[in-house]
Amino acid sequence: MGKNKIKTKLIHSGIDTIKNYGSLSDPVYKSSTLIFKNYKEYIIAKKNKFSKPYYGRLGSYNTKSLEKIISELYQSESCVVTSSGLSAITLTLLSFLDQNSECLITQNCYEPVYNFATQNLAKFGVKIKFFENNSIKKITKLITKKTKIIYIESPSSMNYEVEDLEKVTEIAKQNNIITVFDNTWATFLGFNPLKWGVDIVIESATKYISGHSDNFCGLVACSYNNYLKIKSTATKYGDYVHSDSCVTAIRGLRTLETRMNQHSKNAKLVYNFLNKSKIVKDIFFLPDKKNKNHKLWKKYFCLSNGLITFSILKKNNISDFLDNLQIFKIGFSWGGFESLILPINALSPVKKSSKNSVFWFRIHVGLESSSDLIKDLKKGFYEYEK
Ligand SMILES: Cc1ncc(COP(=O)(O)O)c(C=O)c1O
Repeated sequence: MGKNKIKTKLIHSGIDTIKNYGSLSDPVYKSSTLIFKNYKEYIIAKKNKFSKPYYGRLGSYNTKSLEKIISELYQSESCVVTSSGLSAITLTLLSFLDQNSECLITQNCYEPVYNFATQNLAKFGVKIKFFENNSIKKITKLITKKTKIIYIESPSSMNYEVEDLEKVTEIAKQNNIITVFDNTWATFLGFNPLKWGVDIVIESATKYISGHSDNFCGLVACSYNNYLKIKSTATKYGDYVHSDSCVTAIRGLRTLETRMNQHSKNAKLVYNFLNKSKIVKDIFFLPDKKNKNHKLWKKYFCLSNGLITFSILKKNNISDFLDNLQIFKIGFSWGGFESLILPINALSPVKKSSKNSVFWFRIHVGLESSSDLIKDLKKGFYEYEK
């Protein structure tokens, strides 16, 4: 789908003003119990639990509506909506991995994925192996007959390493391995991994899609067969998405493109400031032409976002910097309207080091005035250095 077409689709998908008495947005359907008209309808629903109204935990009108919109935007056959981005990941992995199977994972993945894989999947007898993005030779060496999934996060968390995806999907297909891709960084607006041969795409709609730091929601765009497997796991594990979360995610979609553009514009200006600042040691920011992943990023992604990671030399107390910021707030997550800063101990969950000579931070540049954001960081640096 072209960029312009997708922009318009974002605004109009899923709107049914006739059904909704003129309203542009859907009402929030709250029922846990869904009623069957008669016995015949009950029997049909039992055989088609995921496509017919069955029981509120399996989905409501609002869940179905979000599933349909996301499938259209990703041009996937189906979409599973889950309670969070993390549950979208764990339920997907649980759907395909079994005892003695092996799973390859991007080494700089979102840390809770690392924890789930090494602590929970390993406990069930799944062997986990980590690989560096853009290291196809190493990936090839890690593959065995037991490899069932290659899980890719690109750009990776914290240091934004990019995968040369077409090489990975090619080797995965040759070996009958399912590829799963966490696309939260870019959203479907910035990249569609399904077009590059990926089997299953995951997004945390908690981030840019919902956009206001007031919602949890996960999305899995995939084929109908994979949908059946993942939805069935989600049902067995009791995963539940409130209808309100689906409506909030759909509302976020309407302004996603405008917000993403503004986040990335502001982030470029903040990056320019950080880049000139003497106190800043390293910066990871993909639109930076000097970034070692820049070229590969350009090959696959058509937009940027608000994430920047940087370090400052360890001279004084970290709180001299952090506690003097007024706009950047300390907090987890990203993708909301506001600017956030997160002190990070390690760039990678696999390679943890306690002897850093620098403090690392991940910032999410929000929608505030960029000059105010720069002033805020300047003041923080000034207080840290004095
Ligand atoms: C790359 C990535 N994937 C998945 C998640 C999980 O999303 P959620 O917070 O919706 O569980 C996060 C959360 O920070 C993330 O950064």
